[in-house]
Amino acid sequence: MSGLVLSVSQQKGGSGKTTLAAHIAVALARTGAYPVAIIDVDPQGSLGTWYEAREDALGEAGTGLTFRTSSGWGARREARSLARDHGLVIIDTPPKTDSDVKPAIEAAGLVVIPVQPTQVDLWATGQTVDIARREGTDALLVLNRVPPRAALTQDVLDEIEALGYPVASARLGNRTAFAASMGTGRTIIETDPRGKGAEETLRLAEEIAALIGPR
Ligand SMILES: Nc1ncnc2c1ncn2[C@@H]1O[C@H](COP(=O)(O)OP(=O)(O)O)[C@@H](O)[C@H]1O
Ligand SMILES: [Mg+2]
Repeated sequence: MSGLVLSVSQQKGGSGKTTLAAHIAVALARTGAYPVAIIDVDPQGSLGTWYEAREDALGEAGTGLTFRTSSGWGARREARSLARDHGLVIIDTPPKTDSDVKPAIEAAGLVVIPVQPTQVDLWATGQTVDIARREGTDALLVLNRVPPRAALTQDVLDEIEALGYPVASARLGNRTAFAASMGTGRTIIETDPRGKGAEETLRLAEEIAALIGPR
C-alpha cells in the first residue's frame, strides 16, 4: 500500500485546520476503504488532545485511527513511514508557512486549506497556496464556518475563482456542534449523525476520497 499524504495547512490560526483534520480522518476511516493515520505537528497539540479524549471515550481500539506526533522537520519521514501501511495519512500543521510546515506540504500529495469566507482570511491563504505550488502539491480550499445567507461568501468565492484556486464544492457551516463534538473526542458525524453538519462533512469526505482514489 502506498497511502496518500494530506496536509491540512493554513497560515491563519483558528481557520479550522484541526477540526477539518479530525473530521476528514474519521469520515474516511469509517468507510473502511483503508486504514487512516493522523499526525499532529502543531506544538499546541490540539489534535493530540482530541485524540486522547477519543481514546478515553472509545478505548484505544475504538478510535479507528493511528495517531502520531512529530516535529515540523520530522513530519516528512513520519508521514512516509505511515503511508506504507495506511491508505491516508493526514497531517495537522501549525498556523505558519515556515520550516515547521514546509516538510509536511513537501510530503503531501494534497494540501487541504480551510478558509473562513472573509477577505482577510483569503489574504492569509495565498502564502500556503504558493508553497504548495512550489512543491508541486495539489491544493484544495475548503470554506469553513460559512454563515447562512451571507453575500460576503459569494464575494469571497468569486475572488477565489479569479485567483484560480481550486475550491471544494462541499462547505462546512458555522455550527457549534462541530466544536462541541471535538470537545468529547468525537466528530459531528458521530455526535449529530442526522444533522446538517454531518451531511456537509460526509460530502466533503466523498469529494476528497474521489481525489485520493483507491489506494
Ligand atoms: N465549522 C465550524 N463551526 C463552528 N466552529 C468551528 C468550525 N470549525 C472550527 N470551529 C471552531 O473554531 C476554532 C478554531 O478551530 P481549529 O480547528 O482549532 O482551527 P486551527 O486548527 O486552524 O487553529 C475552534 O474553537 C473550533 O471549535
Ligand atoms: Mg489547530
